[in-house]
Amino acid sequence: MTSRILLLPGDGIGPEIIAQARKVLDALCSQGALDARIDEASIGGDATDRFGTPLPDETLESAKAADAILLGAVGGPQWDGVERSLRPERGLLRLRSELGVFANLRPAIAYPQLVGSSTLKPEVIRGLDLLIVRELTGGIYFGDPRGIRTLDDGRRQGFNTLVYAEDEIERVCRVAFESARRRSKRLCSVDKANVLEVSELWRDVAETVAKDYPDVFLSHLYVDNAAMQLVRDPKQFDVIVTTNMFGDILSDLASMLTGSIGMLPSASLDAKAKGLYEPIHGTAPDIAGQGVANPLATILSAAMMLRHSLGLPDLSDRIEAAVGRALDRGFRTPDIHSPETTLVDTVQMGDAVVDALTSN
Ligand code: IPM
Ligand code: MG
Repeated sequence: MTSRILLLPGDGIGPEIIAQARKVLDALCSQGALDARIDEASIGGDATDRFGTPLPDETLESAKAADAILLGAVGGPQWDGVERSLRPERGLLRLRSELGVFANLRPAIAYPQLVGSSTLKPEVIRGLDLLIVRELTGGIYFGDPRGIRTLDDGRRQGFNTLVYAEDEIERVCRVAFESARRRSKRLCSVDKANVLEVSELWRDVAETVAKDYPDVFLSHLYVDNAAMQLVRDPKQFDVIVTTNMFGDILSDLASMLTGSIGMLPSASLDAKAKGLYEPIHGTAPDIAGQGVANPLATILSAAMMLRHSLGLPDLSDRIEAAVGRALDRGFRTPDIHSPETTLVDTVQMGDAVVDALTSN
């Protein structure tokens, strides 16, 4: 059966890195290994500029009709001043919400070839293989009321609401427990239960779900301590489950353990494993248009897409192995470059992966 894949390049470096992932998917199609129809649509600042909304109806409909969606990145300084509802990020948040992709899997794997690229000592990160499961469609990102109001005394006050219902906590915890069960059976739930009532409930629900997974060891950490522990000794973790905002912050932190934020893919899944796939880095406005962005996080996101939504784990393995081979051959974009390696640009890195994929 032909899989329907929707590409959403977005803004900044988005179009450059999505083009490389497309090249990899196209290579698999021409080999006859993948049977897919690949379409593209507009989102983010690009959509705001062209259609007056960061998530056009047509894009949302195509996304709903697709089997899986691969997104580049959205946002950029040129949209900082636009009305809040037209901001590029609103398009992405609405897409996540409309698709119901509540479980965001963000693996942080230290590639042996890149151990020297991290700012941390090699022994601290060598062999790191960590999975952050971030709740993606609730919490403070979506809670009402929200806004900026003017108080009686004339001062402006900004406000957001951190809210989680127990079923929202339960379903993401289940995904995390299932993942932990397939890995080394250790799950750490990260919250701020010493201060927040929402976290108190989060912890309580996590403990209740744990009863269904007696083979998984559940621990809890406050988010401030978790940030510290991730830098001190990241290998103590296997799977981490946490809220939308804590997961956003901790996954950026975790990316630097691996050497570069340009290496981290992600999968956002709904209850039926339909998914939205995106690199965790943003639009990198400082290097957009220069052709030097690292496309590997996007290519690895495409690999996750084949595994989780299209039921093609073997092809996913092949892409991951091809990325490994491109690194073995010494190809490096500027973010992961070191003196003894070969500096390449975005297109050359995509070519290196396609070459490794087709030459085996
Ligand atoms: C991410 C990004 C997004 C988020 C932004 C672009 C809305 O930082 O995917 O981590 O905060 O979720
Ligand atoms: Mg983020």
